[in-house]
Amino acid sequence: MKIKMEERTKDLPAVWMEDEKVKMIDQRYLPQELKFFTAEDYEDIHKAIKDMMVRGAPAIGVTAAFGIAQAKLQEKDIEEAADHIKSARPTAYDLFYAVDHMLANLDEPTKKAKEYSEMIKEKCRRIGKYGNELIKDGHDILTHCNAGALATIDYGTALAPMRAANKAGKKIHVYVDETRPRLQGARLTAWELYNEDIPHSVIVDNASGHYIQRGEIDMVIVGTDRIVANGDIANKIGTYEKAVLAKENDIPFYVAAPVTTYDKNIKEGMKIPIEEREEKEVREINGLSITPEGSPVKNPAFDVTPAKYIDGYITEKGIFSTSELKDIF
Ligand code: MRU
Repeated sequence: MKIKMEERTKDLPAVWMEDEKVKMIDQRYLPQELKFFTAEDYEDIHKAIKDMMVRGAPAIGVTAAFGIAQAKLQEKDIEEAADHIKSARPTAYDLFYAVDHMLANLDEPTKKAKEYSEMIKEKCRRIGKYGNELIKDGHDILTHCNAGALATIDYGTALAPMRAANKAGKKIHVYVDETRPRLQGARLTAWELYNEDIPHSVIVDNASGHYIQRGEIDMVIVGTDRIVANGDIANKIGTYEKAVLAKENDIPFYVAAPVTTYDKNIKEGMKIPIEEREEKEVREINGLSITPEGSPVKNPAFDVTPAKYIDGYITEKGIFSTSELKDIF
């Protein structure tokens, strides 16, 4: 089923706060249905993040910030709320950054959480502005997973330069990896690009090498869940392969992220905690079993791309090389 035109959500944030309630698009149902979830307390915030009603590092961070504000307004034990929210998912650094930011700003909690959300939006706009400079008229760009408005409240990180380039009148085309097992590319990135009339094609995860080899892709731009001190990154499972393919075929590979994703306390990518999700995500597609019941399954949600494969980091402060990273955050 196609979402009706009037339900297109160009101006709808992924997550917002109304009075003491935290509201969000329930991303599990897109693109077939536009449904919403209301978090009444921090248990709901934990559930929304864990069950991936909201996902994508900056959006997880904003949801957590709203969750802390809500807990404070409800006079809950804040340390307990913070620990519970932080335990929802292990990889996206924004979750920890946002909770710690709120713990240091507990006066006027709603105002501070809303400012945090606005700050993320502004950073994404700036990522778009800088990233646009890398994109030439006629470029074909590959992206993996969803690092768009849904993953960041508004505008996106990896999708921000594409939005800005499209707005500037450049003719671009985006190759969208479907991103098994949860299909964030096919369901969410495609939905966002479709809503904005940005030309794109959804491809199965195994097809990007084919197009890169034939010279049909000019660059790769992805988001990230965590950048660490030496410039290694963790992003959606499958990102590493794309980076290696890009290097082998001499096309640039860029990572777009705000400062809230940068964890300078971890030295190298192999130390990043990688989330393992439930077997069901691999075993089933839309509730339909696709594997023999007895076959064991593994389901890491992220992988690590070493800095040597990354040509630049598109940030709210500009575009930087690995060696420049430590000076900007
Ligand atoms: O498991 P998800 O959907 O939360 O994974 C999201 C990603 O891997 C994104 O690329 C990343 O969080 C950056 S979002 C701007």
